[in-house]
Amino acid sequence: RSSLPVFSHDEISKHRSLEDGVWVTYKGGVYDITEFVPMHPGGNKILLAAGGALEPFWALYAVHDQEYVLEILSQYKVGEL
Ligand code: HEM
Repeated sequence: RSSLPVFSHDEISKHRSLEDGVWVTYKGGVYDITEFVPMHPGGNKILLAAGGALEPFWALYAVHDQEYVLEILSQYKVGEL
């Protein structure tokens, strides 16, 4: 886990579509959620966060404030900020 690569915000912002991959950040972690997008219970709204931080969206949609949501996210970790 500590050997994961470090990515810049600039690099993450290049991944905001299914074609280029969908990456998001959360609390210093970087996640490639491309494969989760079609499985998201909230549909394509998830793409609003593509290439940037999840925090402002999860602050609006408190349905994510559950342990199992973080467990889903953790499966897609690819790096650190
Ligand atoms: C619901 C995961 C990003 C909007 C959910 C649920 C999960 C989930 C597991 C079902 C929660 C439940 O009812 O128990 C995720 C993950 C995300 C993500 C892993 C990022 C990797 C987002 C973003 C938005 C969003 C960025 C909005 C911009 C919603 C909405 C629902 C929802 C509106 C409620 C859907 C409904 O019950 O009709 N999400 N979400 N999600 N999500 Fe997300």
